[in-house]
Amino acid sequence: MMRRVAILISGRGSNMTALIEAAAADGFPAEIALVISNKADAPGLATAQANGVKTLVIESKPFGKDRAGFEKLLQAALDEHKIELICLGGFMRLFTAEFVRHWYGRMLNIHPSLLPSFPGLDPHGQALRAGVKISGATVHFVIPETDAGPIVMQGAVPVADDDTADTLAARVLGIEHKIYPQALRLLANGGVQIVGEATRSSPGVCSDDNLIAPSVI
Ligand code: GAR
Repeated sequence: MMRRVAILISGRGSNMTALIEAAAADGFPAEIALVISNKADAPGLATAQANGVKTLVIESKPFGKDRAGFEKLLQAALDEHKIELICLGGFMRLFTAEFVRHWYGRMLNIHPSLLPSFPGLDPHGQALRAGVKISGATVHFVIPETDAGPIVMQGAVPVADDDTADTLAARVLGIEHKIYPQALRLLANGGVQIVGEATRSSPGVCSDDNLIAPSVI
């Protein structure tokens, strides 16, 4: 059965686009029923509309620190559209613990680092300063702590000596667009279970691919 998904954005929405495109394919177990932005000028809104997806703007700014007030409107919109799963795609607004608990196990986020390394702001700058040779992206269930929660899927990319935060961000974004649709497929199919603070996936395939960086010829 097709699961009804809302994507929450605040800006560009390139992960949103990857999810919309993947969900348009035959046999994808989820339908992107709604895109909600907390900012009226988010460029992703026009992309969603161009793809025939219903959009809503619920401005969070007027609510200031009243997170619960904003979430009341958000929850009403999610209820009205019978949303079952939420994907955060660059949604830059923190939730109350109550909202997160309500959606626990049904709300995914993507963060552009191999969590638990480099949560929060400037993950690529953090990765470069730490000197890691491999970085990547993580799709995880949302918990009240920012950029944390049971990990559903990760993808890795090499870090080059001459990378800047921008070049690394672009490489990581490529892997984000690959793993987010796959993680949503897994969740919508019932193929991922939360076990304690981790997850288990069925069929639990583990590929033999290795990523070694730098590669020495
Ligand atoms: C993505 O790189 C996403 O991983 C990141 O914001 C960007 C949004 O881009 N999210 C976070 O940093 C969450 N802590 P997009 O609007 O093009 O999808």
